[in-house]
Amino acid sequence: MADTAANSQVNLIKAGLEDAVVSTSEICFIDGQKGRLLYRGFDVDDLAAQSTFEETVYLLWYGHLPTRKELEAHTKALSATANRKLPPKLIAMLRLFPKKTTPMEILRTGVSALSAFDPDADDNSREATLRKSIRLTAQMPTLVAAWERIRRGKPLMTPNPKLNLAGNFLYMMSGKPPTPLAAKTFDVALILHADHEFNASTFAARVTAATLSDVHSGVVSGIGALKGPLHGGANEQVMLMVDKIKDPAKAGAFIKKAIADKARLMGFGHRVYRVEDPRAKHLRRLATELGQQIHDMHYVEILNTVAAAVTAEKHIYPNVDLYSGAAYAAMGISTDQFTPIFAMSRVAGWAAHVLEQHGNNRLIRPRSDYIGATEARYVSLADR
Ligand code: CMC
Repeated sequence: MADTAANSQVNLIKAGLEDAVVSTSEICFIDGQKGRLLYRGFDVDDLAAQSTFEETVYLLWYGHLPTRKELEAHTKALSATANRKLPPKLIAMLRLFPKKTTPMEILRTGVSALSAFDPDADDNSREATLRKSIRLTAQMPTLVAAWERIRRGKPLMTPNPKLNLAGNFLYMMSGKPPTPLAAKTFDVALILHADHEFNASTFAARVTAATLSDVHSGVVSGIGALKGPLHGGANEQVMLMVDKIKDPAKAGAFIKKAIADKARLMGFGHRVYRVEDPRAKHLRRLATELGQQIHDMHYVEILNTVAAAVTAEKHIYPNVDLYSGAAYAAMGISTDQFTPIFAMSRVAGWAAHVLEQHGNNRLIRPRSDYIGATEARYVSLADR
C-alpha cells in the first residue's frame, strides 16, 4: 500500500490503553498484584467493615473522613426529600417511555434530563458541582426505583428521609421497609462500587469534564460507558449465565463447554487485578448470608462451582461483578436493575473525578496512530 501513512508510530501504546497513565490522582489506588483497593488511602476492606455509603461519598469528595458534624450535615443533604425527589415533569416524561425500555436506558436519559431542572445547571464552580453531585447521588436511586414501579404499573413511593440511601432505595423499589440484613448488605455493596481509579466509565466522565463540561454530562458519559457488558453490564450477564445453568450440579460441565468454546466468562478477569478482586470476597460473603436468610442458596452454589472451575482452568479470578447479582436477586431485585445499581454507587466516584479534573484541568485529547491512506484522489460521483 504505497499511499498509507509513512510515519505511522510503531505502537507505543498497548491496545486498550493498557498500562497507560493518564493523569495523577489522589482519589483511588489499586494494587493489582496484591489485590488491594484504597479510597483516599483507606483500604476498602476497612470501609466495608466500618463505614457507610454516605461517609464513603464524603471521603471521596472531600479527601478526608468527616467529623461527626460534617457527616451529619452531609447525610442530611443526601437524605433530604427536596434532594431525593424527582421533578413531576420528569416523572411525566418517564411514563411516556415504552415499558420495555431497559432501566439503564432510563437512567442514562433521566440523568441527562435532570440537568434541565437543576438550579445550578450552568454553574461549574466547585461549590455548585458539589451541590449538583449531592442532588444526583440522592436522585438516582429515586429514578431507578420510579422506573421499576412505573414499568410494573405500581404507584410511586415517596422517599423516606429517615432511611439512609441504601434502605430508602430498597423501600422505594419494593414498597416495604427492607430487612436489616438487606439494608446493611446493600450499603456495603454501594461502598464497594463507589470508585475504581481510571476504569472505562470514570475515564469517560473525566474526558467529558476536561472539556469544562458539567457534572451531569460527565455522569451521563459514565453511565453510557458503564452499560457495556465488559464493564458494569457484566453483573447482569453473570445472572443470565446462572439462570441458564439452573442447577449447581450442571455448573462444572457448563463452564467446561464455555471454555472449550472460548466464550468470555462474565464476572471474571480484570485489566488491573492479577489476583481475586478484593471486592469479590465481600460480595460472596454477603450473597451467602442473604441466601441463607431466604433459604435459597442455589445462586451462590452455582457461582462457587463456576468460580472454582474458571480459576482452575483459566487462571482468571472473580471480579466485583460475579457475586453482586446473587445478593441483589436475594433481595428480590430484577436482573436488569443490577447495572443501574452499580451506577447509583459509582456516581460518587464519577463526581469525585469530575471535581478533581476541574481542579487541575487540561483538555484530554490524545492522538491516533494513523495507518490509513494519505494520497487518496477524489473521483467525481459520475466516474466511480
Ligand atoms: N473470559 C474468558 N477469557 C478471558 C476473560 C474472561 N472473562 N478475561 C480475560 N480473558 C482472557 C482473554 O481471552 C485473553 O486471552 P488471550 O490472551 O489468550 O487471548 C486474556 O485473558 C486477556 O484478555 P483481554 O480481554 O485482552 O483483557 P482485558 O484487560 O482487555 O479485559 C476484561 C479485561 C474485564 C474486559 C475481561 O477480563 C473480560 O472481558 N471480563 C468479562 C467481563 C467482566 O466481567 N467485566 C467486568 C470487569 S470488572 C468490573 C467492572 O468494570 O464492571
